[in-house]
Amino acid sequence: MYLTLPGLVLNFYLIFYAAATFCLISVLLKVTQLYRRRQKLLRSLESFPGPPKHWFYGHTNELGRIGELTTMVSWSEKHPYGHSLWFGAFLGFLNIYHPDYAKAVYSRGECPPLSLTWLQPYLLRNPKALDFYNFFLPWIGKGLLVLDGPKWFQHRQLLTPAFHSDILKSYVALMVDSAQVMLDKWEKLISEDKSLDVFQHVGFMTLDSMLKCIFSYNSNCQKDSKNSYVQAIGDLSCLMQERIQTFLYHNDLIYRLCPHGYHFFKACRIAHHHTEKVIRERKALLKDERELESIQKKRYLDFLDILLCAKDVNGVGLSDEDIRSEVDTFLFEGHDITTSGISWILYAMAQNPEHQQMCRKEIKGILGERETICWDDLSKMTYTTMCIKESLRVYPPVPQVYRELNKPVTFVDGRSVPAGGLISLNIYALHRNPDVWKDPEVYDPLRFSPDNSSQRHSYAFLPFAAGPRNCIGQQFAMMELKLAVAMTLLRFHVAPDPAHPPLEKPQLIMRSWNGIHLYLKKLT
Ligand code: HEM
Ligand SMILES: *[C@@H]1O[C@H](CO)[C@@H](O)[C@H](O)[C@H]1NC(C)=O
Repeated sequence: MYLTLPGLVLNFYLIFYAAATFCLISVLLKVTQLYRRRQKLLRSLESFPGPPKHWFYGHTNELGRIGELTTMVSWSEKHPYGHSLWFGAFLGFLNIYHPDYAKAVYSRGECPPLSLTWLQPYLLRNPKALDFYNFFLPWIGKGLLVLDGPKWFQHRQLLTPAFHSDILKSYVALMVDSAQVMLDKWEKLISEDKSLDVFQHVGFMTLDSMLKCIFSYNSNCQKDSKNSYVQAIGDLSCLMQERIQTFLYHNDLIYRLCPHGYHFFKACRIAHHHTEKVIRERKALLKDERELESIQKKRYLDFLDILLCAKDVNGVGLSDEDIRSEVDTFLFEGHDITTSGISWILYAMAQNPEHQQMCRKEIKGILGERETICWDDLSKMTYTTMCIKESLRVYPPVPQVYRELNKPVTFVDGRSVPAGGLISLNIYALHRNPDVWKDPEVYDPLRFSPDNSSQRHSYAFLPFAAGPRNCIGQQFAMMELKLAVAMTLLRFHVAPDPAHPPLEKPQLIMRSWNGIHLYLKKLT
């Protein structure tokens, strides 16, 4: 016994030292890796000076707070074309906001969105890093938004027919119904001395219509949000939002172990379980019907029908998991972003009563005696469409998008960024670039008259991004925006609430720090 004790102690010390050495080496390796990455990014951004930055936090101290977009625009005015932008010490982007620069990057086919694995090393280190792409994965899976390479190409081709106007047409009636429910609700809620925060109401409305278009699911979520699936979807958006805001939650392990993370993954399971069940049931239903035309004769086609029947030239279709990812991607994209679009357009209409009145007059003129809007009316709403586009310019629902270059790019002024460089296209600043837009702060729908539009650079207005990886749902989204805005203006006069002006909050999508409060007055 006397003999074994020193042996034990020795063993203990050995293990302790081994562990300590291992930790030290890992930390050193990590630091070296980060340092080399930083040097590489610094080199790639050599010819693009930026605003003064903190050595460790980069520019993050100026971001993530009220007024950050105004700061961004002031930076863009000092640095023509582009400047370096650092999210912490190890993540440096070339931030661009000029049409020529946007074209150089976005017209190319081979640029995937910022690869997800790339950001992983930053999760622990960087308080406001852009790791949020990772946060979607457990929910939306590898759908179009995050896919890359040949698989992205195959999916994009298979999904494109789902957005053909013949298909979109049949959604008008569904969307009109959903909007009607929201407006009925508003009629009961409004009062003269209290404004209404419209953002959440619009959110339920777009969710309602998306669920119908995607898989013919009548959730009734606008009236009854107790449905566990609808709650899960609502929770997922909120939880993801909170995760982005809470530094500690950025770490996967910590997140999984705390109640928030538990909630999130539980909501994911509920959402997936529901989607999988719907897919299974539909597959059984479609067993004998392999032709879309024969289904279409019986009822309208939803996204799910189209995804299930889609085959590429080799006769290869999508797996069940692929379909689930695409369905969830559409739901995520189609509901949150569209909500932002509609809410900010209503705010712009409230701010500009003369244009609001012009739109109302146009819509009434198109409808005549009729009460509901149909497909053919949408293309006639020229003035309303101009107003919507001007709102998408001033309040782009997706204010910023990111790319990692897999080939070097040389810009018109001769400066270049090597492969591996990171690009952030600042859509908000692009839409306020004084080289393109005269008095960019002024809301002026005439900028989008056919004459004026045709004279503008084709990469000056990019609410839906551009090139091969642009928004596949653009027509769908425009249709929903037009219907929602037209129907609201037919029923209500909208006015701003000077006591609660919305404060822009760019967080993946354009939100407001304090909601979007409007006074609504029923028209007789
Ligand atoms: C006002 C509404 C919308 C806006 C402003 C918008 C904007 C955008 C933008 C800027 C991108 C590029 C993202 C990036 O490069 O990182 C994008 C991609 C995408 N959007 Fe939308 N979107 C809207 C509505 C929709 C709707 C309704 C759907 C589906 C029904 C949709 C589906 C998608 C998909 C699947 C992608 C990825 C496409 C690809 O990478 O091939 N979007 N959207
Ligand atoms: C073009 O835009 C300018 C300024 O926004 C406006 O004054 C002019 O009327 C527009 N032209 C047309 C043809 O609408």
